[in-house]
Amino acid sequence: MELMDTILKRRSIRKYTGEDISEETLRQILQAGLLAPTSRNLKPWEFYVVKDKDTLRKLSAAKSAGGGMLAQCSAAIAVFGDSEKADTWVEDCSIAMSFMMLMAEEKGVGNCWVQIHFRTDASGKAAEENVRDILAVPSGFRIVGILALGIPAEEPKAHALSDADWGKVHRV
Ligand SMILES: Cc1cc2nc3c(=O)[nH]c(=O)nc-3n(C[C@H](O)[C@H](O)[C@H](O)COP(=O)(O)O)c2cc1C
Repeated sequence: MELMDTILKRRSIRKYTGEDISEETLRQILQAGLLAPTSRNLKPWEFYVVKDKDTLRKLSAAKSAGGGMLAQCSAAIAVFGDSEKADTWVEDCSIAMSFMMLMAEEKGVGNCWVQIHFRTDASGKAAEENVRDILAVPSGFRIVGILALGIPAEEPKAHALSDADWGKVHRV
């Protein structure tokens, strides 16, 4: 697929067939993230791959709303940034997430970014703390988001080139 075709076709997918994603495809998705650019080439990311259903179900409840699809997906990649390694951990890890989203799309794997950073669960506890507890992640690693992955069971309409809002472009 041409890159623009992949960009247009990519939509957030929140319903999955339950089919497995092959290890090779998962590896290619992770590889895309590991090859993303980072400030000073520090690569401050840590990717936690989850396939265990019970753990996915726990992650789905880490925040009060908007993470329900994690209970249904086939795999998830929780992306953490080492905040002691690079002050650009949010930027670096967000780019890695984006690269993984595009590779997933390219490979026919539906995906959705689940926001965790700055979110809370129903009791007001930080969703980041919940995810850290569930995955036993050291405290220096800060969450950026979780990428839910699964074979799509829905096909939202692709974006169109005409959706691009050129009013946001300022030529100075
Ligand atoms: C930083 C970020 C956080 C997001 N968090 C969530 C989320 O927690 N739950 C969810 O269902 N979708 C989430 N999304 C998906 C957005 O809702 C979605 O990208 C947006 O509505 C545009 O739709 P599209 O991805 O189909 O083009 C997130 C997307 C981004 C980029």
